[in-house]
Amino acid sequence: MFETKEGILEYLEIEGRRELKGTIEISGAKNSALPNMAATILTEEPVILENIPELLDVQIMIKLLEHIGFSIEELSKGKFLFKQNELNCLDAPYELVSKMRASILVLGPLVARFGYAKVSLPGGCAIGTRPIDLHLKALEKMGASISLEHGYIVAKATKGLKGAEINFEKITVTGTENILMAATLADGITVINNAAREPEVVDLARMLKKMGAKIEGEGTNRIVIQGVKKLNGANHKIIPDRIEAGTFTVLSALFNGNIKLKNYPFQYLDYVHKKLEEIGIYVIPIGNDEVIIRREDTLKPVNIETKEYPFFPTDLQAQFMTLLSIVDGISTITENIFENRFMHVQELERLGANIKVIGKTAFIKGVKELTGAEVQATDLRASAAMVLAGLIAEGKTRIYNIYHLDRGYENIDDKLRKIGAVLKRDFEYIEG
Ligand code: UD1
Repeated sequence: MFETKEGILEYLEIEGRRELKGTIEISGAKNSALPNMAATILTEEPVILENIPELLDVQIMIKLLEHIGFSIEELSKGKFLFKQNELNCLDAPYELVSKMRASILVLGPLVARFGYAKVSLPGGCAIGTRPIDLHLKALEKMGASISLEHGYIVAKATKGLKGAEINFEKITVTGTENILMAATLADGITVINNAAREPEVVDLARMLKKMGAKIEGEGTNRIVIQGVKKLNGANHKIIPDRIEAGTFTVLSALFNGNIKLKNYPFQYLDYVHKKLEEIGIYVIPIGNDEVIIRREDTLKPVNIETKEYPFFPTDLQAQFMTLLSIVDGISTITENIFENRFMHVQELERLGANIKVIGKTAFIKGVKELTGAEVQATDLRASAAMVLAGLIAEGKTRIYNIYHLDRGYENIDDKLRKIGAVLKRDFEYIEG
C-alpha cells in the first residue's frame, strides 16, 4: 500500500541512463548529528554544533528540543547554537517520536540531568520490530524506575542515576549512545560491555569529552565512564556521513567512476572498500579528503553479510543490492541486523531485477539491465536503492513515499542534478 497524505501522493520521477559526471560533496552524518543534538540536554551552557545536515530527521530533533525548552539558532549553513531556556517539558510526544525512532536518544540525557523523562514509544522506519528493551533495562540497572503509561515510557531517578555495569545482550547503536550520555552525569563508574563501535558513537564520545565528560574505550566494545557532577558547553563538528558516502560510491561505480567525492570519510569504510574490491571497484584517495572511483569493465558477484561496525553496515545493504542486480552471476546478501529489511527486493523486481529471498539471505542473479517502473520507497535506505536503480534503468522511474529519502539524504535532488541527473518531484491526487 502506498502511504497517503490528505489524498496526495508525492513522487520523485527519474529519467534513467543520463550521463552523470562531476563532484558530489558528502554531508554531515545524520546518525552522529542526532545523538550529538540530544547530548546538548546534558548541560545548561550553550553548545555549538557544526556540519549538521539539512534533513527531515534533524528537523524533528530540533522540534523535539524546542518542545523540551531549547531555543535553537542556525548561525550559518549547518552551524547551530543550542541554548536552554527553562526546560519544563521533560517529555517527547508521540507526534514527534512516531516520525523518528531516534527521538529515543533524549531519554538518557533527560533522566540523567533531571531525574525524569517521559518518551512516547518509538516509530520510524518499518524495518522489523526494533524494540528498545535494552535501553530500558540498562537505565533500570543504573537506578531508574521505568513504567509504561498509555504508550509512554516514564523513567524516574529522583536521587539521580548510579554508575553500573551494563552488559548489552545485543550490540545496539542508539542503546550504547543513550547509556553513554546517561552515564556522564551518573554517580560513580559505568562500564558498557558489548558496546557499539560505530564511528558515530565515537563522535558522540568526543563531543561529550569536550563538555567535560570522563570517558575511555570509545571505539572498542568496552566503554568506561566516570560520572561527573556537571557538564559544560562545547563546540563540535559532526563527522561526514559514511552511509551517504557509500551510496554515492556505488553510484559512481555504476557510471564508470565519473563522479568524484569530496569530504569522504575513507577511514570509516575499510570493510566496504574490501567488498567493493571483490566486485572490481576501487576507491582511490587523491588528497584533501577527496576520492575517485575506478572499476573493472566486468564486475564480479560477491557475498555480503551485514554485521555491526567495523563490518558491513546494514544501512548500505539495499544500495549494494541495486548494484549487484546488474552484475553477471549470483551474489548473496545476508541481513543479520534487522528482520524484514528486504522490502526493497520486490521493488527492484518491478524494475526487472532477479532476486529470491530465502530466510535472511537474498540471492541476486544479475540481469543485463533494469527498466523504469513505478516503485515505492519502503524505508530510508531502500529509497536510496530505488534512486540508484532509477538512474541506471532504461526509461522513467517513479518513486513513491519519497519522504523517506529526505529523512537521510541532504539536498539529494540538487546533488544529483549538479552531476547531470534529470529528475523532478510531483504529486498525484488519489481518489478516496
Ligand atoms: C542505528 C542507526 C540505524 C542503523 C542501526 C544498525 C541511528 C540513529 N540509527 O539504529 O541507521 O541501521 O543502528 O546499524 O544511529 N535491539 C533490541 N533491543 C533494543 C535495541 C536494539 O533488540 O533495545 C535490536 C534491534 O531490533 C536490531 C539490533 O538490536 O535487531 C540493532 O539495533 P540498533 O543498533 O539498536 O539500531 P538503532 O540504534 O535503532
